[in-house]
Amino acid sequence: MNILVLGGGGREHALAWAIKQNPKCDRLIAAPGNAGIAEIADCAALEIDDPGVVVSFCEENAVDFVVIGPEAPLVAGVADRLAEAGILAFGPTAAASRLEASKTFTKEICAACGAPTAAWARFDAAEPARAHIRAHGAPVVVKADGLAAGKGVVVAATEAEALDAVEAVFSGAFGAQAGTAVVIEEFMEGDEASFFVLCDGTAVMPAGSAQDYKRAFDGDTGPNTGGMGAHSPAPILTEALQQQVMDDIIRPTVAEMARRGTPFRGVLYAGLMISEGRARLVEYNVRFGDPEAQVLMMRLGAQALDLMLACAEGRLAECRPAWADDHALTVVMASRGYPGAYEKGSEIRGLDTLPEDSWHMTFHAGTARAAGRIVADGGRVLDVTARGATLAEAQARAYEMVARIDWPEGIYRRDIGWRAL
Ligand code: AMP
Ligand code: GLY
Repeated sequence: MNILVLGGGGREHALAWAIKQNPKCDRLIAAPGNAGIAEIADCAALEIDDPGVVVSFCEENAVDFVVIGPEAPLVAGVADRLAEAGILAFGPTAAASRLEASKTFTKEICAACGAPTAAWARFDAAEPARAHIRAHGAPVVVKADGLAAGKGVVVAATEAEALDAVEAVFSGAFGAQAGTAVVIEEFMEGDEASFFVLCDGTAVMPAGSAQDYKRAFDGDTGPNTGGMGAHSPAPILTEALQQQVMDDIIRPTVAEMARRGTPFRGVLYAGLMISEGRARLVEYNVRFGDPEAQVLMMRLGAQALDLMLACAEGRLAECRPAWADDHALTVVMASRGYPGAYEKGSEIRGLDTLPEDSWHMTFHAGTARAAGRIVADGGRVLDVTARGATLAEAQARAYEMVARIDWPEGIYRRDIGWRAL
């Protein structure tokens, strides 16, 4: 098969790495890809959020299967147009992607199917939102209703912070699209974990749990980031909890989506809040997490392609994934200054001395090649990933690799894994 992966981050490097190991893959193309992906795939510069451009590219290059990494092309309807053109794709339609694109939509689905989540209210003007906050007090969570690149959520400890957040949403601080409505939620206390489920529209299959580390600095301090590390599994998501999540949240959601005529096909990523032995939904994403995909792909390996194909072809019920009783952990190396301003272009040395096998892999998140050297080209730059029989072993292996990377301009957390160790 000729396979196209859309995206150019660490998630897409991990997806490409897993796909490439599967003998079904003949030619692998990534768009836009990055310097790490370029070592295992052809990279193409492509406007991946434009469905017409993606379809034409697939037709010109005899692409048989498209794996859509990020949310933006999904929300833009790339999967819909590929389906119309008769090209297989992994990833939901635009209508089903509303589970990530619209917080209101997700809350309505939860209400319709009885999935447990925080109490909420939506306002399309600032004054009633402010009145609601004054009436309910803090802590409270204020969210821009729309894709805001992960930045549209403020967990407000005080009423004043919450009122400021309402101001920020309606002033367009999170983007024009996210600036037209606000969702105000009950603050849920507890421990967070992520759960990934593959869906083919009707059948569902758990694809692993993960714990991510969103804060920039050790001890879960500092600003929120896209994720500074992750591991899989997340031990807090016990068998019993996973069962509850499947029964109370995932299956009802997938059934409700099918009932509405907008079945969900792809990977459903449930952000969960766990307290008193029970999980509630924080949010859905309609794609793999980044860097969660890096640890999931490390554990799934080549069968990831078979499972994604089964989702696209509606035959997930026939699949039996083989799970090793193993652990994977990834440490994100970022440019100094991330998630704020940072410089690009610093050289990264030592990558060629690192092992690359099914136990060790350095995925590239934001790199480029300049005059034969690898240079930093983004905020999150490398995902240093290892697998082990235990989480401690995976952690030790990953940090041994980090120590061998010569990149003085890079920063990373030294405590990824602490929540489970
Ligand atoms: P979201 O973009 O909806 O995942 O929110 C980002 C982060 O904000 C989550 O990972 C949580 O840490 C936090 N958060 C969101 N909603 C709530 C809530 N209702 N209660 C507590 N924390 C929340
Ligand atoms: N790591 C969080 C995300 O991918 O949304």
